[in-house]
Amino acid sequence: MSILIQNGLVVTSTGSYTADVYVEDGKIKSIGTDLDCAAETVIDAKGKYVLPGAIDPHTHLAMPFMGTFAQDDYETGTIAAACGGVTSVVDFDLQQKGESIFEAVERKKSWARDKVAVDYSLHPAIMDPRPEVIDEIKTAIREYGTPSFKIFMVYDFRVDDATMIKLLEQTKKYGGLVQVHAENVHIINHLNEEFENKGTLSPYYHAKSRPNIAEEEAVFRAIKMVEITDSRIYIVHLSSKEALARVKEARDKGINVFAETCPQYLLLDEERYKEPEFNGAKYVMSPPLRTKESNKALWDGINRGDVQVVATDHCPFDFKGKKDMFGTDDYKKIPNGAPGIETLLMLMHSEGVARGRISLEKMVDVLSTTTAKMFGLKNKGEIRVGKDADIVIFDPDLKFTITQEKLHMNVDYTPYEGMEITGMPVEVYVRGKKVSKWKNDHVEFVGEKGYGKFVKREPLIK
Ligand code: URP
Ligand code: ZN
Ligand code: ZN
Repeated sequence: MSILIQNGLVVTSTGSYTADVYVEDGKIKSIGTDLDCAAETVIDAKGKYVLPGAIDPHTHLAMPFMGTFAQDDYETGTIAAACGGVTSVVDFDLQQKGESIFEAVERKKSWARDKVAVDYSLHPAIMDPRPEVIDEIKTAIREYGTPSFKIFMVYDFRVDDATMIKLLEQTKKYGGLVQVHAENVHIINHLNEEFENKGTLSPYYHAKSRPNIAEEEAVFRAIKMVEITDSRIYIVHLSSKEALARVKEARDKGINVFAETCPQYLLLDEERYKEPEFNGAKYVMSPPLRTKESNKALWDGINRGDVQVVATDHCPFDFKGKKDMFGTDDYKKIPNGAPGIETLLMLMHSEGVARGRISLEKMVDVLSTTTAKMFGLKNKGEIRVGKDADIVIFDPDLKFTITQEKLHMNVDYTPYEGMEITGMPVEVYVRGKKVSKWKNDHVEFVGEKGYGKFVKREPLIK
């Protein structure tokens, strides 16, 4: 199968230029002007961008959580990804008690096998850090192709500081990376008790129970553990300006701290929790939405390079039936998480690039190029000869009004309902196969479930 994409603006993380891109057997074979290649499919991309597919390194597909499951499985979640221009996902894989890392990986691979529509990999989440599990990290990095490991400083399945230090040491030794959900559980428990006593238990108090300082303290503590072990860490879903200030301070000192944020922390704020009739529950996620000041600080952090990756933390629960299952009288029982995999690229372009908050090249950097490098996806993340032909043909002027009805995520709402978008993916390819295309007024899936492949990732430092 060969494709010639003519006259599009090829966007890289360092610059953009008009060129033709020739694809054969799933790979980018050549890039140049007026390429003379006979191709089975010729695409006129004049006036369009040719982008590397976005990579979402923070998803919770079919994850068991808070008495239920995140609703998108590998089929619906990756169909939605394909329609949004996300051509690879790196999904979290929660290790169960008594399980080895490899059993956890094989279990989730078996869920994905016949369903996954885009390429994927897994981050094992260490939840039962027995000594033999810590020993497995070497093989997970060197042989299994899963060199990044998620840990939580909150929730019942959190790890303690001593374990965290061991994990930092172990991943440093073999070229892995610890990813951390950083919030101080004791501050949160204390405030939960206070709100329980006062009877202030509406969704708004979810945000109040997890203040910026709870994130700041945990980020600071994580950084100190990195400093003492001379290791590296990646902070997932960074949300507050105070925590970002700790990241910046550390990075300025040369400490290897990396940070990810998500569109919800760039675009939405805590006023959303005040929406009437329990609608605030739609935004119950951890960390919670912050203020407009934090939104702005995070855009600045992206531009400065203190935030290197934008991901989604896609973890959807229906508003009717899930968010209100146990939690109408108590925010603590509302499943934490929100949908986002399909709206990642359109939001970052429309709210980021089109509004002048970030450059087009920065968008490609935080959605694709740095993400691929951060997580060892060596054939992904760039429009470059030799890379996988994971390509988005993007029309920067196309208008779309976000509405759940026109999206594919298996959930009954989007936090962005009614938002007017400028710029949409019009054709999306995974290893040279078309997986979605714009039709009339929305993007439709034209790929094949089961086409996606598990990608064995490289150790992150050799
Ligand atoms: O609220 C969230 N973020 N839910 C998903 C699990 C997590 O903490 O990332
Ligand atoms: Zn988290
Ligand atoms: Zn998450």
